[in-house]
Parts: sequence; C-alpha cells; structure tokens
Amino acid sequence: RLPIVVLISGTGSNLAALLAAERAADCPYEVVAVIADRDAPGLEHARSAGIPTQVVRLSEHPDRAAWDAALAESVTAHRPALVVLAGFMKLVGPPLLEACGGRIINTHPALLPSFPGAHGVRDALAHGVKITGCSVIEVDAGVDTGQILAQAAVEVREEDTEASLHERIKAVEQPLLVDVVRRLTAAR
Ligand code: GAR
Repeated sequence: RLPIVVLISGTGSNLAALLAAERAADCPYEVVAVIADRDAPGLEHARSAGIPTQVVRLSEHPDRAAWDAALAESVTAHRPALVVLAGFMKLVGPPLLEACGGRIINTHPALLPSFPGAHGVRDALAHGVKITGCSVIEVDAGVDTGQILAQAAVEVREEDTEASLHERIKAVEQPLLVDVVRRLTAAR
C-alpha cells in the first residue's frame, strides 16, 4: 500500500472516511501519519487507529517561512506518495510544494473556481447560488487554483444554514475524496 500523509485543522470527518476505506482488502493506500497546525479534534481519529500524529504550530515558529520549512520536514519524513489536505486551513508554502509538488491534493467545499478560500460554504450561501458542492483539486501555489480532479454537486435548500449545507456537502465530499485518493494511489 502506498503511504499517504493527511493534513487537517478541524473535525477530521474526511480523514475518518479515508481511514474507514482502508479496511477494504483492495485499498491501495495507507495513512502513515496525520499532521495538524493546531490541536484539531480530528487527530483523535488517527490516535485511535494507532497512526502517528504531530502538531506543527505557526505560533511555535519565529515566522511563516520557518513554519513552512518545519511542516515540509514533518511531511517528507514519512516519504508519502501522496499528501492529502483534508480540511487543512492554511496555505501550503514553497518548501512543501517543492518537495511534494504534483503530489498534494486538497478538498474544498464549493464548486471551484467559484468560492475559493476559507469560507466556501458561507460565500456560496451568501451569493444565493442554488447549486454548490465540493471539489478535489491538485494543490499549486495559488489559493484553490490547482487542476480540478473531481467535483460533486449539492442543491442548496431554502432553509439552509452554513452548518446544514456544509453537512450535506461533507456527505458527498467524503466518498469523492476517498475515490480520488484511491485512484491516484492505484495509478502510481
Ligand atoms: C471540509 O468540508 C473541507 O472541504 C473544508 O473543511 C472541511 C473539513 O471538514 N476545507 C476548506 O474549507 C479548505 N479551504 P473535516 O475536518 O470534517 O474533514
């Protein structure tokens, strides 16, 4: 199985889906480490599965460049075939892009190129779109500008709040992400 490293900042429901999918006999990948930029609740999914975790905090580094370098070092130490940003709420800097370029993917809760950035669900709702969804993309130096690998659509309901809409997006996002990760690791 090809090693993958997952980066998170939040609840880790996408990470949990990746871990659950690993139980399939034909799963082509293995999550070998989970790294967060904060005490993300989602780290618990990794801990209970016995997977090494690490927190690389920006506040514990002199500046952004030092944090970027530390993050790249932590990730590359695991020699991942693929790096998956699953709700990782910071931009990846040049060191990680240089070390793992073309092998980093991100999942985003909107239909890119619409509504990039940290508030994809809120921004789509505020704009009044009737259909939104999620995108799995290749990570490049821009903000959610990389090549689109897969997308799924979700209808917006009249009564939706950011939370209710995000919940329905996550329901389609998790299998979509698992599918892309399986596809990319099977092909390598
Ligand atoms: C996911 O919906 C992901 O698309 C989003 O954060 C959520 C994390 O959920 N990421 C972004 O908004 C990145 N800009 P999770 O922690 O439950 O997997």
